[in-house]
Amino acid sequence: MDLFLSRKFMILVLLVCLGCGSSFVSANFYNDFDVTWGDGRGKILENGELLTLSLDKSSGSGFESKNEYLFGKIDMQLKLVPGNSAGTVTAYYLSSTGSNWDEIDFEFLGNLSGDPYILHTNVFSQGKGNREQQFYLWFDPTADFHTYSILWNPQLILFSVDGTPIREFKNAEAKGVPFPKNQPMRIHSSLWNADDWATRGGLVKTDWSQAPFTASYRNFSANACVAVSGTSTSCGSGSASSNAAWLTEVLDSSQQEKLLWVQKNYMIYNYCSDSKRFPQGYPPECNMA
Ligand SMILES: *[C@@H]1O[C@H](CO)[C@@H](O)[C@H](O)[C@H]1NC(C)=O
Ligand SMILES: *[C@@H]1O[C@H](CO)[C@@H](O)[C@H](O)[C@H]1NC(C)=O
Repeated sequence: MDLFLSRKFMILVLLVCLGCGSSFVSANFYNDFDVTWGDGRGKILENGELLTLSLDKSSGSGFESKNEYLFGKIDMQLKLVPGNSAGTVTAYYLSSTGSNWDEIDFEFLGNLSGDPYILHTNVFSQGKGNREQQFYLWFDPTADFHTYSILWNPQLILFSVDGTPIREFKNAEAKGVPFPKNQPMRIHSSLWNADDWATRGGLVKTDWSQAPFTASYRNFSANACVAVSGTSTSCGSGSASSNAAWLTEVLDSSQQEKLLWVQKNYMIYNYCSDSKRFPQGYPPECNMA
């Protein structure tokens, strides 16, 4: 399976399958994440079971995973900034480093109390993004925790919310579209002020009298291949692979139906149908069945 070994990397990577067995290892934010910025505004609480990020006029905050992953099924529960969250953005994404980076994004654009958040998604491969899809949610994402998942395997990238697929980005290498598969990515999240563009295109500004704004995270789980520099082997070799069904998972017909339901009822922007933006024709991955 030399597919998993990047020829571009001088450093070989060791890929270990985590959580592939039947026993579920419950995650702890202390073990899996570092709060990376925000000068105390990001906190790990409740013995590692809860993480909160906050934003005030001076700064936002953020965290990242200790591990780098190369493929995985990654779940996190988020409860977004409640009340008047206009102008705030909570980003939750996977990203590699370097100028040809890969990235898989969820971004939650806040709004005035009672007005809907926008869930913005994007996929970058080798430094190129411009693949936005945006959605409203079918629930209030500030009232409780909901699970946001990224399934990333060699066939596809699937974004899901509470187990309902909202977006599928298929591997379209056969059509010449680069697909993220060689660069390990870390999980990142941050809460920051983006009132120049986030809410109604920047019309609604952050109301700092409501600060601090807080987003919460819990119940992280990763069925994933962890990249460790120094040694080389491939993910999914050995006994662990037999349970790694996510590595070959594709949408079944019931998931396909749910995806269509979301796209029909909750999708508010799709780059693949923005004809003004692509007068010369849509990108090749848009024309995949
Ligand atoms: C905020 O609410 C307005 C009015 O309902 C809506 O047009 C907009 O899409 C909502 N979301 C954001 C992030 O602007
Ligand atoms: C935590 O996540 C796991 C796996 O993603 C899920 O089965 C479980 O129901 C979640 N627990 C809570 C309290 O939501």
